[in-house]
Amino acid sequence: MKSWMITKYGTPSESLSQQEIDIPIPKDDEVLIKTKAASFNPIDYKILRGDLKMVMKLKMPSPIGYDVSGEVVEMGKETNAFQKGDEVYSRIAHMGAMAEYVTAKVDDVSRKPSNINHRQAAGIPLAGLTAYQALFDIAQLQSGDYVFISAGSGGVGSLAIQLARQAGAYVATTTSSVNVDWVKSLGPNQVIDYTRDEYTILLKDYDVVFDTLGGEHTMEAFKILKDGGKLVTIAGEIDNQTAKELGLNPIIRWILSFKARKITREARSRDIMYRYKLMTPNGRQLTEITRLVEEGYVNPVVDSVFPFDKGHEALQRLTEGRAKGKIIVSMEE
Ligand SMILES: NC(=O)c1ccc[n+]([C@@H]2O[C@H](COP(=O)([O-])OP(=O)(O)OC[C@H]3O[C@@H](n4cnc5c(N)ncnc54)[C@H](OP(=O)(O)O)[C@@H]3O)[C@@H](O)[C@H]2O)c1
Repeated sequence: MKSWMITKYGTPSESLSQQEIDIPIPKDDEVLIKTKAASFNPIDYKILRGDLKMVMKLKMPSPIGYDVSGEVVEMGKETNAFQKGDEVYSRIAHMGAMAEYVTAKVDDVSRKPSNINHRQAAGIPLAGLTAYQALFDIAQLQSGDYVFISAGSGGVGSLAIQLARQAGAYVATTTSSVNVDWVKSLGPNQVIDYTRDEYTILLKDYDVVFDTLGGEHTMEAFKILKDGGKLVTIAGEIDNQTAKELGLNPIIRWILSFKARKITREARSRDIMYRYKLMTPNGRQLTEITRLVEEGYVNPVVDSVFPFDKGHEALQRLTEGRAKGKIIVSMEE
């Protein structure tokens, strides 16, 4: 089968190549999925660039990609949750979704929403689960809470807005001028054009911030939080509790806590809960997202669809950081 492979660290054009490899054999607790569509996430270009070398050693050539939507073609011996022909999607636990066939642990798989096609579905698992886990598992978002979600036009932001709204929260978000109208159509209560207005001046006393940008944006977000509020990041500094839960060694934990020292100090002084969330695959939560999509509460946003042969171009577009929703690679004509 054909699979996109990482051959060395670098850019998509110099480091990704399509290669012929064996079709994977599903283990007892896995299914084999024939890929109809897959999607890229920023983690893919971060891995490709070598940003995660310290914590994740790659054996080259390495497969790439975590998000798949397709059809079950084979089941492992211990698997009876799905049958051949079932249309499913998944954030797989290992890399390798950018290939004609993909194995996935049955616990990480959900039935695909029946009202959307594979191209729309392929963009949901990683970004949707990230938003779901940050908002509900970590921030424990409640109906009536005021939540600020940065970058509402991004892959994660566009789904987070809709998940937070269906939970009854008041949602404010930021985006640039070209995206304001379509981001409004996702249903947030307030869209702020960050090229014209300063959200830190317009918003105050928020219960929750979901920071999808990191860097200086994390520290900036404290300005709009009430004392006792919650700040969850997926792109900022890793807090000590999360570093422990991830099993990072004491030296790396010390470096991380040094990098996060200003944030930790600010959070402590104002009784704000600060957490970094690293998403995990979860078929049960993905099934809940399937329900929300089928009931019309969540609509995936597709930035663009690239044919499988142009996978490297798809990842290049994502690298530029201007995607409006998700970038999809399709196996179908
Ligand atoms: N920890 C985890 O488990 C986890 C999981 C998923 C993602 N992430 C991380 O979360 C981040 C976001 O992921 P993503 O998939 O949503 O990325 P993405 O789709 O590539 O985000 C692109 C969007 O960001 C917006 N943006 C850029 N700068 C902005 C700013 N200053 N203010 C407001 N919007 C801005 C852009 O809108 P404009 O063009 O309008 O600026 C664009 O629509 C990435 O760093 C990713 O690695 C982490």
